[in-house]
Amino acid sequence: DDDTPQMVTALSFTPVAKSVADVCSVPTGYTATVIYALGDPLTASTTAYKNDGTDGDFDNRAGDHHDGMEYFGLSSDGTRRDPNGSDRGLLAMNHEATSHAGNERASAFVHANGGTNTLPRPAAEIDREVPLHGVSIVEVRKTNGVFGTVQSSGYNRRITPLTPVELSGAARGNALMKTRFSTTGTSARGTLNNCGTGITPWGTLLTGEENWAGYFFRSSTDNAARGDKSVTSLNRYGRTQGSASRHGWETGGTDDKYVRWNISKTGTSADGSDDYRNELNTFGYLVEIDPYDKTKAIKKRTSLGRFAHESAAFSKLVEGKPLAVYMGDDSRGEYIYKWVSAANWAAADANASDRVAVGDKYLDSGKLYVAKFNADGSGTWIELSIDNATIKNYTGYAFADQADVVVNARLAADAVGATKMDRPEWCATHPTTGEVYFTLTNNSNRKVDASGSSQMVVDAANPRAYTDSYAGGAAGSPGNLNGHIVRVAETGGDAAATGFKWDVYLFGAESGADAGKVNLSSLTADQDFSSPDGLWFSKASGLCWIQTDDGAYTDVTNCMMLAGIPGTVGDGAAKTLAYTKADGSALNVTTYVGKTPTPATLRRFLVGPKDCELTGCTETPDGQTLFVNIQHPGETITSANVADPSKYLSHWPGNAGYGAGGTTARPRSATVAITKNGGGVVGS
Ligand code: FEO
Ligand code: CA
Ligand code: CA
Ligand code: CA
Repeated sequence: DDDTPQMVTALSFTPVAKSVADVCSVPTGYTATVIYALGDPLTASTTAYKNDGTDGDFDNRAGDHHDGMEYFGLSSDGTRRDPNGSDRGLLAMNHEATSHAGNERASAFVHANGGTNTLPRPAAEIDREVPLHGVSIVEVRKTNGVFGTVQSSGYNRRITPLTPVELSGAARGNALMKTRFSTTGTSARGTLNNCGTGITPWGTLLTGEENWAGYFFRSSTDNAARGDKSVTSLNRYGRTQGSASRHGWETGGTDDKYVRWNISKTGTSADGSDDYRNELNTFGYLVEIDPYDKTKAIKKRTSLGRFAHESAAFSKLVEGKPLAVYMGDDSRGEYIYKWVSAANWAAADANASDRVAVGDKYLDSGKLYVAKFNADGSGTWIELSIDNATIKNYTGYAFADQADVVVNARLAADAVGATKMDRPEWCATHPTTGEVYFTLTNNSNRKVDASGSSQMVVDAANPRAYTDSYAGGAAGSPGNLNGHIVRVAETGGDAAATGFKWDVYLFGAESGADAGKVNLSSLTADQDFSSPDGLWFSKASGLCWIQTDDGAYTDVTNCMMLAGIPGTVGDGAAKTLAYTKADGSALNVTTYVGKTPTPATLRRFLVGPKDCELTGCTETPDGQTLFVNIQHPGETITSANVADPSKYLSHWPGNAGYGAGGTTARPRSATVAITKNGGGVVGS
């Protein structure tokens, strides 16, 4: 019976070969259909997307850089939530960023001439770029077996960097959150650089704010004006005074919607309530949105910490026990975090009518922890609390209260000596074992001989740093070039445990690389990948879907998605990597490698078009449709080259027959719906 979910115990689809073609490839017997791309209209009266740089009204269109995505089922009449609704539902997805050359400010493809890169930026260009970011919610419906979006649905909605939101949890009302927009520090505007997602057990979206800090500007002379500890905080979140903002949005004019991007002190108040000096503190959270109800407040869950959020993975729920939310902070050498609710899980909350109130119950009160990975394969969760003397007395930053701890979670985690990881991207919980998997995408600063404060030495949980002698490796010492996936088993299977065991599920590598130093998981040509990023478990099939965002392997293949059937923590063997340091001394690092995959337990399912990243993965509850996001095909573009389609690195999905432009189209981020021809669970 094709309607019955079936756990897949052995992979049997034909593996997709590595490819640099400008297409989206899936296995024989499967169909990938583009259903929702940058600019697609979300109201009945919004015009079709021309994709020539003249379209406006992005508040009523799909945003750019589709990223994390969750499916929310609807009843067949569309009137209410139905967690089992597989024919009709809502896709809620992140729009992380926009495509532009790294040294340019303008979002090139949405302007006819590529946009203006000099300052001040024209207000009209900024007004077009801001709503490309945020979240969109779009109804999808199955017709004759194929999903499509419903342009006129009343559920359709955009949340942008200008949408009012509430601040909830530990930092609500704190002095750090006061701005001219909210002199009480209880609300803020919008969400930004939304990367990974999570779905709560009660049917709301969690969207993670990742690289928000780069959008703000702070004057180089501002510290003298403020004289406070905020410079330490600014620097710890990757910014320096005087450095240019990503898009120059602060230069658009005197309206608050431009001024807010300048976090210099411009007012005279003691607390920041007459300017935007604290605006940066209102970004960097997991944000909860009820996709079914536009009238409900959007809430930033500040208690879960402020950092470069990726996804949010819930623990397996146990009635009467606290729940946990696992989180990664994606930057080189950042940490893995866990939230444990104060409230015990009550299954009735899964079907509550006021879903945001359930979020208040589980996501505002509790404890925030950071992970320490030990060399013996054990680990510890360390609580980030102002009551911890190590944090209270930290000499690197004077924490005032718990709000300061969550707003500056990175500094608190520094204080307690958490383990610096190789860029924690997504995390996901195995549906049956409850073990939690974390992608560590790569780390160019992981070294055998580390120098300076930004580099770090190999350790058990981050054991690879390539050297010139690495077979097939890049010149120089590129650090951990290909990334890995670490997994955690809580002590006693208890989400609230403060101890765990860990190992490495898979090490990314090219199949031809040295098996002793690099290809530690013995990947074959049908399995090899680099830079794991998106990570998601299907509840219907049990499959682990791994998506890549790679700069190291794109000479051989575009980014991809693989299906895996993992075992459990500790099912493999210890392996010692023998390094020689520059001074000739030996450095041996022992790590724990999961069971070697076989063709039945890991194979490549999809290869995307050129210059894209695969991210965002969700399914209908019956497992028969998998939704996947293709992010930023052909993203590398200079404004001068916008006039010449022959300079585009990709023309997808126009070249696949979707939307205007055909084989010379400007590329667009897009959602594809993947089905098995004739029906059945995807991957079975
Ligand atoms: Fe937006 Fe770290 O990926
Ligand atoms: Ca990511
Ligand atoms: Ca990435
Ligand atoms: Ca990206």
